[in-house]
Amino acid sequence: MTFSNTIRIFDTTLRDGEQTPGVTVSPDQKLEIAMKLDELGVDTIEAGFPVVSPGEMQAIKKIVKQGLRAEVCGLARTTKNDIDTALISDLKYIHTFIATSDIHMQYKLKMSREQVLEKALFAVEYAKKHGMIVEFSAEDATRSDRAFLNKIFKAVAEAGADRIDIPDTVGYSTPQYMSKLVTDVINSTGLPVSVHCHNDFGLAVANSIAGFQAGAKCAHVTINGLGERAGNASLEELVMACQCLYKLKHNIKTELLYEVSKFVSSAMGIIVQPNKAIIGENAFGHESGIHTHGIINNPLTYEPISPELVGRKRWMQAGKHAGAHGIKAILDEFGISTNEAQLKEIVEKQKVIADAGKSITTSDLLSLASEVIKNKRFDESFKLNDFHIVTGLNIIPTAVVKLNIHDKDFIASETGVGPVDAALKAIQTIAHGIANIKIREYKLDSITGGSDALAEVSVKVEDKEGNIISARKSGEDIVVTSVQAMIDAINKTMLKKLIEKNN
Ligand code: KIV
Ligand code: ZN
Repeated sequence: MTFSNTIRIFDTTLRDGEQTPGVTVSPDQKLEIAMKLDELGVDTIEAGFPVVSPGEMQAIKKIVKQGLRAEVCGLARTTKNDIDTALISDLKYIHTFIATSDIHMQYKLKMSREQVLEKALFAVEYAKKHGMIVEFSAEDATRSDRAFLNKIFKAVAEAGADRIDIPDTVGYSTPQYMSKLVTDVINSTGLPVSVHCHNDFGLAVANSIAGFQAGAKCAHVTINGLGERAGNASLEELVMACQCLYKLKHNIKTELLYEVSKFVSSAMGIIVQPNKAIIGENAFGHESGIHTHGIINNPLTYEPISPELVGRKRWMQAGKHAGAHGIKAILDEFGISTNEAQLKEIVEKQKVIADAGKSITTSDLLSLASEVIKNKRFDESFKLNDFHIVTGLNIIPTAVVKLNIHDKDFIASETGVGPVDAALKAIQTIAHGIANIKIREYKLDSITGGSDALAEVSVKVEDKEGNIISARKSGEDIVVTSVQAMIDAINKTMLKKLIEKNN
């Protein structure tokens, strides 16, 4: 088996990624994402599907106009109208597709194999006549008849297609099958081949790697694995697996992966699952005592790659599985030193809290530490004294919050779109000038079912210097839990500053 020397990354976050159910981004947001992808080093940006809307065309035009380093491509069916729309969107590179599996031809296209072949040839010839680079995809290739698939790929190659793509449209392929298909297509067309793998069985990255092993030059991927249903092959996972496990070269600046992932997640409104490889919150987080002990001696004991390689930092979590090594590491990070007996007491106390089913945030741990070492310096700066909310139908939600900051009482009242918004605004009003923070992200999840569900709130705040600090709380009352999470985040920000000042 042979690998191409440098693999190419065709990013389709702005096209297949935007087809994630419920996701739409404005033309300006598309442009911002395209610029980030270009900075990241992707080889191709599939900027969209021009025919879907005037806004889509406008976004594509804006992206093309930037003169990015990456090639910019757009999707088109094999119709004259789709290709003309791509042309008037200023595209010079088209990704044209038609389905080739019997199920798609019979139930969706209602066309015979001959008609499909004819349409494919028309599209390639028409786009070539207009001077475009043409990549041809046989939609649902992995469930298509092998002989027909080869026939259509060979025919479009002879008609002038520049590149061939093999879509695994419903994630139905195995790595072995993908490898066979790629070998066949290279043999029958002699063209550069891409693979486009969906993740319905969680095999999108493995299938893309199999494609590379069989000689494919390029893989279609998305940031965070976004895309229809279970998504597409995730750029971050594929690139890092290719680099670290298969020693392949690519043009991606891996240290930007986390930043771009966060950017896309917030622009598209799709949260990344915490345990997602490479970019999930927990990918470089450690709690268990055995692991943190190993990590402290040599991070490679429990990390396959260094977090910095993908723009991340390792973190340790307090909790029932945590041991003295992990807790000491967290306290060290905040410049808090303890003797052996104090450390033991802190570890035991946080285990008692964890055993009661509560998650322990860093500021919980620091409060605990300040209690044990009897140093108020590390204790909470903002304390919630009281708050009241008025809300209902035809009432503007209003919150009154009372805080105690360094033994002084403060009160503020704000209105908002809802009770949480009003309460968080009131806290920010009080904090303004003291902590100077902005909310960057607010997330609410229900942990259990039913109307008495336990809610988990996570808040990310940004301070004046651009540091992002997060805090998480769970509780039964959404407003109370949100207020507590916000105060936690502010306290962590204040503490960080205090420690930086002292060091
Ligand atoms: O998954 C797919 O088949 C596609 C095509 C448009 C290539 O996204
Ligand atoms: Zn797709």
